[in-house]
Amino acid sequence: MSPEREGDGTVGQPVPFDVVARAAEADLPTGKDKTVLVRSMFDAIAPRYNLVNRMMTFGLDVRWRKQSAEALGLAKGSVVLDLACGTGDFLSILRSKGLRPFGMDLSWGMLAANRTGLPLSQADGSALPLSDSSVDGITCGYALRNFTELAAVFDEFGRVVRPGGRISLLEVAEPDHGLLLTGHRIWFRHVVPIIGGLVSDRAAYRYLPKSTAYLPPTDGLRSMLMASGFSSVNHHPLSGGLSQLITATRQGRP
Ligand SMILES: C[S@@+](CC[C@H](N)C(=O)[O-])C[C@H]1O[C@@H](n2cnc3c(N)ncnc32)[C@H](O)[C@@H]1O
Repeated sequence: MSPEREGDGTVGQPVPFDVVARAAEADLPTGKDKTVLVRSMFDAIAPRYNLVNRMMTFGLDVRWRKQSAEALGLAKGSVVLDLACGTGDFLSILRSKGLRPFGMDLSWGMLAANRTGLPLSQADGSALPLSDSSVDGITCGYALRNFTELAAVFDEFGRVVRPGGRISLLEVAEPDHGLLLTGHRIWFRHVVPIIGGLVSDRAAYRYLPKSTAYLPPTDGLRSMLMASGFSSVNHHPLSGGLSQLITATRQGRP
């Protein structure tokens, strides 16, 4: 659980998203304000989250999660934490590969929409309620830019993944150049907020493209993961750079 206390909006009763969204409109919040915004936003969009994802990516997000699960390269029966598991798309894929997954997420709304039947708990990625070296691997889909303290989350990955264990992280990305970049910018910055507004929550899907500003560049992510005890950090652009996959191995003798 987060070290924050119930009542400040980071755990316990959610703060209405429209209140928080208006406060965040002018700028990208940081610290506790960001945690409250992110949590209330995902509570608000949880019921239609999967539908909007499929529409936004033409179903490619399913393929990207499968590639990410494959890239873990862990043996069947391995215990895998899916951090920021949301509605459970990643968990189902991990289970279908013979792994033993469980999920953690900050948002009760997302956890309530999770129908996988797998073990779930509410937790903040920067303070995981897990023992040292207790999991074989971690997956994390489209959440890095949502964490308030990314370095603290990576440190937690380094603490709870056993030596020789693996992590596989997915995030949004932008193609390098050309027509794909232009098309992606128009789609992500202008069309997605309209679709999201029609099907789900306009403020949330206006915030989504803006939130990519939180994401460190590839080299920054690599350095942070190495500082948290990972080696063999690899970066793979997916579908021409529409998404990115980062894999790494926990240092130390297995
Ligand atoms: C874009 S969704 C991704 C959900 C899922 N991983 C997927 O691939 O569809 C981001 C998720 O990160 C969760 N999240 C944000 N900040 C978090 C934190 N500090 N600790 C745990 N989960 C967090 C949100 O509640 C949300 O469910």
